[in-house]
Amino acid sequence: MSKTVGILTAGGDTPGLNAAIRAVGKSGILNHDLHIIGFLDGFRGLIENRTVQLPGEKLSGILTIGGTILGTSRDKPHKMTIGNKVMDMTDVAAETYQKNHLDVLVCCGGGGTAKNANRLAQKGLNIITLPKTIDNDIAGTDVTFGFDTAMGIATEAIDRLHSTAHSHHRIIVVEVMGHRAGWLALGAGLSGGADVILIPEIPYDVNLVAESIRKRSRKGSRFSIVAVAEGAMSRQKADAHCAAVDAVKKAETDESKKQAKAELAIVKRSLKNSTLELSQQLEELTGLESRVTILGHVQRGGTPSAYDRLLATQLGTKCTELIMEGTSGVMVASISGQTQPVPLDSIAGKNKLVPIDHSWVKSARDIGVCVGDC
Ligand code: F6P
Repeated sequence: MSKTVGILTAGGDTPGLNAAIRAVGKSGILNHDLHIIGFLDGFRGLIENRTVQLPGEKLSGILTIGGTILGTSRDKPHKMTIGNKVMDMTDVAAETYQKNHLDVLVCCGGGGTAKNANRLAQKGLNIITLPKTIDNDIAGTDVTFGFDTAMGIATEAIDRLHSTAHSHHRIIVVEVMGHRAGWLALGAGLSGGADVILIPEIPYDVNLVAESIRKRSRKGSRFSIVAVAEGAMSRQKADAHCAAVDAVKKAETDESKKQAKAELAIVKRSLKNSTLELSQQLEELTGLESRVTILGHVQRGGTPSAYDRLLATQLGTKCTELIMEGTSGVMVASISGQTQPVPLDSIAGKNKLVPIDHSWVKSARDIGVCVGDC
């Protein structure tokens, strides 16, 4: 009997999502006569049972399209806003699964999706996840789809910023996405030839950054490109953030927890304008004019790169193979160029951050890029 497969896309959209949906659907329909049902807008569509049938013809012509044909949201089944209440809708998700006679639900998403999907797997649902995020920070896989496209877009932006920074003898601070992980800023910064690269994993000292820029000026390069991840922090702010997070963890009473959470919120607010502050500080410390470019969601837009189409297609076809074997409770990972399942509960809730001794960091240092700590 043919199987019924549900598929949804959750979390921030990413180039390559449609390529993944297409690969699961086409390989499933063509080789195994699978029945594919899409759920709209992430886990919210699952809870609300909003579906779309995905026969073969609906999967044609979507490979090159950015975003996701299914829509997405950041809703979590166990903490969903319904009206003005936050409710645990996990059981409703399970009911929708049963109502649609699903044999398996494929969730394409990032770290948050892996956690939510794992909760559903623990409730007894057959779940497979596919790792997507421009942040490239999902544990258990070497790479996620979306990352290559975003890195290409950010690299091109840095290339273009060079000529204007050079012409005006300015510093340009370019903010790249990535709250916890600096893969995108580091990859694009290196590929685009940034002079300074600041990532969340390496708290920076603004005086050292300014000195590296002054040194370039003394040597005749009167412009600098600073690629900064949106989550990069100065050493002082990183210490304050760590202390505030610790205080929340250690608080024993409800009252002290509330107080600690309020203080953490203040610290988090102070991080919001870090890139603008950094630019102002660099202007004061170097005497050079500085401008800020925030790349933002443009990094997630548009058609996926060839690499991301290929990766999403390989992960998608492997997903179908796993469905046919009856494997579930796994994420399909790409490890050393091979697609393979890894247990969902071994990766859910974990982030893959840039190791501070990673070869990209070493190469940056070797070519004289300032990474903010020396
Ligand atoms: O998780 C992917 C990501 O693009 C991050 O790099 C970024 O910090 C975040 O999403 C932005 O989220 P939103 O689209 O909800 O503003």
